[in-house]
Amino acid sequence: MEMKTCTFNIKRFDPEKASTPRWAKFSVEMEQTERLLDGLIKIKDNMDGTLTFRRSCAHGICGSCAVKINGKNGLACQTLIKDMPDTITLEPLEAYPVIKDLVVDMSPFFEKNDKVMPYLVNDETPPDRERLQSPEDQHKILQSITCIMCGSCTSSCPGYWANKDYLGPSALLKAYRFIFDTRDNASGERLEKIIHNNGLWRCRSIYNCVEVCPKEIDITGHLSKLKRLAVKKKLLERK
Ligand code: FES
Repeated sequence: MEMKTCTFNIKRFDPEKASTPRWAKFSVEMEQTERLLDGLIKIKDNMDGTLTFRRSCAHGICGSCAVKINGKNGLACQTLIKDMPDTITLEPLEAYPVIKDLVVDMSPFFEKNDKVMPYLVNDETPPDRERLQSPEDQHKILQSITCIMCGSCTSSCPGYWANKDYLGPSALLKAYRFIFDTRDNASGERLEKIIHNNGLWRCRSIYNCVEVCPKEIDITGHLSKLKRLAVKKKLLERK
């Protein structure tokens, strides 16, 4: 396959050295089958070693390489050069504090996640091998389990841009994952934890989260199911 000359237009910022971000351009020879992450690695290895970005697995599993790619959040390791225009604009995920260049501080994201009890609660004596679940029950949480917590959804949510105290789609999806897990015994308690002024009812079904999810999870659809459950349990008040 023929080579392609790509212009990487990267928003760079070092809060310890500058008061405002700047743009840097890099012209990189890329193979069509390479990924954006390969381009970033080429720039760092051969052109500017100070360029800072995050990555770990390089295979769409860890979620650490999420960035804004030509205005839309996505994974650098999952975006192929052949699908991109010649000019590629990269920015850090919006709404999180920038640590340096494309690396953001994800602490606010994980703090929201911690608030929804993101773990299975079941004090009953476990069976010899594992807690079983029917295929039908498993199907209810199948999509939500594939979340890699890259932060793309919450970072693209206008509700979160407007109110950083909002739990955001990722944390609410995590709540869904355990509330609808038939092996969990704390669903009621967990549901109460997301019914407040900065919780579930802040979701306005804008669908930005669905648009950017690299795992194609219907996040808004899952949150709608949570809302229906909350209505059924008359958990409507905003505290
Ligand atoms: Fe792990 Fe991209 S590096 S998802």
